[in-house]
Amino acid sequence: MKNVLIIGSTGQIGSELTMKLRSIYTNGNIVAGYIPGAEPKGELKESGPSALVDITNPQQIADAVEKYQIDTIYNLAALLSAVAEAKPQLAWKIGVGGLFNTLEVAREKRCAVFTPSSIGSFGPETPKDKTPQDTIRNPRTMYGVTKVTGEMLSDYYFRHFGVDTRSVRFPGLISYVTPPGGGTTDYAVDIYYAAAKGEKFLCPIAAGTFMDMMYMPDALRAAIEIMEADPSKFIHRNSFNIASMSFDPEIIYHKIKEYRPDFQMEYQVDPLRQSIAESWPNSLDDTCAREEWGWKPEYDLDAMTRDMLDKLSARFGKQQ
Ligand code: SER
Repeated sequence: MKNVLIIGSTGQIGSELTMKLRSIYTNGNIVAGYIPGAEPKGELKESGPSALVDITNPQQIADAVEKYQIDTIYNLAALLSAVAEAKPQLAWKIGVGGLFNTLEVAREKRCAVFTPSSIGSFGPETPKDKTPQDTIRNPRTMYGVTKVTGEMLSDYYFRHFGVDTRSVRFPGLISYVTPPGGGTTDYAVDIYYAAAKGEKFLCPIAAGTFMDMMYMPDALRAAIEIMEADPSKFIHRNSFNIASMSFDPEIIYHKIKEYRPDFQMEYQVDPLRQSIAESWPNSLDDTCAREEWGWKPEYDLDAMTRDMLDKLSARFGKQQ
């Protein structure tokens, strides 16, 4: 990787990945692709080039790739699961149409492409615990349909055209920088904001609902390490299960209470998010990622909780 285009650079993953890549690849162009209304600001804007790249517009992708001699594209444009249920046509247009546009440019210009998949690519018939790498998927959400299609399309472009496509199935991602929007796992971010602000948290997911989660520093490392990995050991490409922790609302609530004994949570279950969460696995088996490219998480729930509360408390002015 030298010259990298991040499509969706101002989103939850993109805003942090762009800065991380700029800190590592100091000799190249790390280009922040954005859409109108979501322009880069502050450090993200000042620290490197940016380009208008709407993933539904193939010419804009091609122009940025040409102008900056891009060799690697991070395709981070997507609608998260709950929003995608409200706007399924747009979710398909961005998730699948946008990926197709990206892969076509990558085929012509010989770029590598990273496109995240998700725990949302699985469905109710999938084995729930330690979900294997290769198993039945059959998602029920439009988000999942776009992710499974994206995995298959990316593998097709690798096998048929030799495009270097690689991907991981991200769990719910937790960070204190840019909030997610419209996902089913968002509660595990929102709960820390409530705790740091000293507010009661209304939990939209029911007790006993387990999902895989990951702290953003591990997710960024996964996205970079898989693109840097020697592919000679790859049996899979699109997409690898990765995992670091699995919990339900009670477990994260009690973990936060260890550091904030006054913190309170009540349940106000959102039927849409709850039904999506119930259709997803409890925990993934990431053996293939560990064996094929050396994946290993660094943060567990305790380490993540301490860091999230420290960072958010500093921002909201409340100390432990
Ligand atoms: N975080 C995503 C969502 O909840 C899942 O990958 O939609």
